[in-house]
Amino acid sequence: MKRVLAFDVYGTLIDTHGVVEELSRRLGDGAEEFSRRWRDKQLEYAFRRGLMGAFADFSQCTREALEFVDRATGSRLSETDKERLMATYARLPAFDDVAPALERMAEARLTRVAFSNGSRTAVEGLLRQAGILERFDDLVSVEEIKRFKPDPAVYAYLHNRLESSPHETWLVSSNPFDVIGAKHAGLRAVWVRRSAEAPFDPWGDEPDLTVSSLDELAERLS
Ligand code: LAC
Repeated sequence: MKRVLAFDVYGTLIDTHGVVEELSRRLGDGAEEFSRRWRDKQLEYAFRRGLMGAFADFSQCTREALEFVDRATGSRLSETDKERLMATYARLPAFDDVAPALERMAEARLTRVAFSNGSRTAVEGLLRQAGILERFDDLVSVEEIKRFKPDPAVYAYLHNRLESSPHETWLVSSNPFDVIGAKHAGLRAVWVRRSAEAPFDPWGDEPDLTVSSLDELAERLS
């Protein structure tokens, strides 16, 4: 059976908490908490924009979330700090298991696509600087239909664009909201449980497969 793997980017391939080092120079011990709240708020803003029908570039959600968390925590980051943090966000590192796992999947002739709420430009930039852009057969950004995950239209667009059926299209994501969104739209989904403590949403929609890393996924699929 044909099988297309569509990899979520932020949190699955790319480590969004790669900003912690930059944040800790300004916030010390509060950096991890700030980073977590920043990521949560960024997603909330994308979800809300999706519900409102007010699509904006994902980087705008990121920038506005940074501004919000700065205000909420009273961190008083300067404009220069914020610009620097946004620049760091555009160069976030890939997780260590990504490059070797993608190589194995390429050897196993599995189709590999990056699939993100991020813009094509942002995602291409991240994957290029992480040295893994060439490992993908294609890149699908939600900006092509101006909706955000987990809108079912986004997952339908993905498999139509890839000319694969929902059952042949496997979302690979560390984000439970993304896994549930894909399952809801009739796709298959792999949950990459990067932390043993990470809980899954108790909605009754379970992933088809759960792995602790992309290495494990490559092992299972080769
Ligand atoms: C992505 C974010 C939502 O789509 O993780 O890359």
